[in-house]
Amino acid sequence: MLNPDQLDRAVELLRGGGVIALPTETVYGLAANAEDELAVRRVFAIKGRPATHPLIVHLAGAEHLEAWAREVPAEARRLAEAFWPGPLTLVLRRTTRATDAVTGGQDTVALRVPGHPVALEVLRRLGGGLAAPSANRFGKVSPTTAEHVRQDLGSDVDLVLDGGPSTVGVESTIVDLSTGAPAILRPGGLATEDVERVLGREVPVRTSSTVRVSGSLASHYAPRAGVVLAEPAEAAERVRELRARGLNVGVLGPAHLVLPPEVARFDVPQDAGDAARVLYARLREADAQGHDVLVACLPQAQGLGLAVRDRLARAAAPRDPTPSH
Ligand code: TXA
Ligand code: MG
Repeated sequence: MLNPDQLDRAVELLRGGGVIALPTETVYGLAANAEDELAVRRVFAIKGRPATHPLIVHLAGAEHLEAWAREVPAEARRLAEAFWPGPLTLVLRRTTRATDAVTGGQDTVALRVPGHPVALEVLRRLGGGLAAPSANRFGKVSPTTAEHVRQDLGSDVDLVLDGGPSTVGVESTIVDLSTGAPAILRPGGLATEDVERVLGREVPVRTSSTVRVSGSLASHYAPRAGVVLAEPAEAAERVRELRARGLNVGVLGPAHLVLPPEVARFDVPQDAGDAARVLYARLREADAQGHDVLVACLPQAQGLGLAVRDRLARAAAPRDPTPSH
């Protein structure tokens, strides 16, 4: 845990319109006081994110929901009770406290109570909401350590709080409860099955909605190297084909893969929860080795496997020739 001086400093900076990076259990966030429009604009500028892409407002507890959401349906309360603090974001109809700067002018606001003790302590001391996207440049791999943040954003942020590696490792699951029919806008650190169990009904995944979810752009979470997806059983064959074309190939996958000894493997375990925890760090490590292409093994499409497959698919998607960051 951090020393109290750093927490004081963080809160002082946030009160004064500063922008800080802070740990959450999913990924590190780039945080500003959600009610300070200038500070929120700086978050967009540092990320290089289009101003129309809304931010998640982080709260100290579910008791703050009414200040930000003008309608809190019973299903939202049930999910909040079951999973907050934790890797769940609820999209609800906003109050005027959620400004256009945060919501991108939409009539809804995304709200989350994070599970990391450092984030929670900062929120408790601040008393208000923190607008915080992942602390990476737009379109790039999200950070799961303070070191990742420093590498990406350097001196652009006023302070980086170090709370150790994120334990979940992928972003929160976003559930839209702003209409009658709940839907998952982004699979993430909370399994869809858990959401469905608490709501007692099926909740469709609707990643291509009219709402601007930047994690839902086809190409996102992208390393420099190309990424090729493979079911574990086909990975060795993909590696052989790519190497036959003269490419320098790295592999993201579990230990039991049988690969030529000279091929570098970056350990992404078979278990989806373990894979989620290390995925972004392994993508960064592999990318730093300068491989032309990374063959990424897909976990099964259940539990957190859905989020891992989603992020890998976006990392593998065709890139805009002029990166947007
Ligand atoms: O785990 C997380 O959610 C992390 C940590 C830092 O909390 N945050 C995060 O933020 O992933 P960001 O900005 O990288 O992704 C937030 C997503 C975006 O895709 C955004 O479009 C969506 O939430 N979002 C925000 N407000 C929304 C709204 N009103 N309706 C639908 N989607 C919304
Ligand atoms: Mg992000």
